Amino acid sequence: MIPCQRSLFDLPDDVAYFNCAYMSPLMQPVVAAGTAGVARKARPWEIVPADFFAGPERARGLFADLIGGAADNVAVIPAASYGIATAARNIPIARNQRVVVLAGQFPSNVYVWRERTRETGGRFTTVRRPGDGDWTAAILDAIDDNTAIVATPNCHWTDGGLIDVAAVGGRCREVGAAFVLDLTQSLGALPFDVAAAHADFAIAACYKWLMGPYSLGFMHVAPRYHEGRPLEHNWMARAGSEDFTALVNYRNDFQPGARRFDMGETANFHLLPMAIAALEQLHAWTPAAVQATLADMTGTIAARAAGLGLIASDPRLRAGHFLGLRFPGGPPDGLLDRLAEARVHVSLRGDSMRVTPHVYNNAADIDRLIETLRASL
Ligand SMILES: Cc1ncc(COP(=O)(O)O)c(C=O)c1O
Repeated sequence: MIPCQRSLFDLPDDVAYFNCAYMSPLMQPVVAAGTAGVARKARPWEIVPADFFAGPERARGLFADLIGGAADNVAVIPAASYGIATAARNIPIARNQRVVVLAGQFPSNVYVWRERTRETGGRFTTVRRPGDGDWTAAILDAIDDNTAIVATPNCHWTDGGLIDVAAVGGRCREVGAAFVLDLTQSLGALPFDVAAAHADFAIAACYKWLMGPYSLGFMHVAPRYHEGRPLEHNWMARAGSEDFTALVNYRNDFQPGARRFDMGETANFHLLPMAIAALEQLHAWTPAAVQATLADMTGTIAARAAGLGLIASDPRLRAGHFLGLRFPGGPPDGLLDRLAEARVHVSLRGDSMRVTPHVYNNAADIDRLIETLRASL
């Protein structure tokens, strides 16, 4: 268990923030890294060509280590949608072949597949929300020899419904389908092993469970796609770009590995240091310890909410960093406003109240959440 880390954050005592799935707050060392990065750009004469590569390489290594991958396989991207669009550009879909997604999946991992299936004559399978909450069995059921791509998260963004990615990845491998994972709602708070999941593309935006800045993310690309087509033609991604005097000796060859998929202006001088500081802290905590700590916290909240008549998602079928709470008669009108007035922050997704804590939450936050809910019912 990780002891409460509230002092690392800028969280007033009277704010009970249970909305990490919306956006994580930044730790003070992450803010300091960003501030230093902005100040650095004010003195460009101190930035040398090697600095353009050092930040991305450090970040690639930290991201790779978090998922048991290789730094060479990691690309720096601005958003999950960018990574998923890269996957969509590089995985073939034959006419009538299927792309499998989940009902209610986050739009960044849906629209691009709709477009690709329209372009290729492919088809869509949307796995219905299973009555028994077992997404893994429902997904496995939907995969067959005609499946080109399975594109899912590790847990559902609305309520944390858990997917056994090793089982799904193994099945994809058996039928020759590609597995594209959007880990934005889990990476950092849920252990993930890219090899065990057989992931072709494993993608995450930084601003939620990776505790980093907005407008930055990372993507692990399996080596079989390393000859693929990037979305854009970023000069840094070309071989030899370290030599700024020779950039107009245009070249067809790329930097090694997944670097060809890097976004333009890869060397973002304020966002990358922030992501690096956040990733370093996550490594110190470890995703396994974050998961254990948050599972304990959501378990406590679920038990206390049950006393108010709220129905919690089954802990065996949800990721521990998420809790979906349902109200027997639907959510009371104005619930979010009442909670926000009491400075309690959660989300409503569908008819489920999404409670997503992190290591900054304490017992007083939980008391405030429960008492405000009691007063709102
Ligand atoms: C599952 C999931 N993926 C991705 C994102 C963010 O997508 P993007 O980085 O494309 O804005 C979110 C945001 O809520 C999300 O819940």
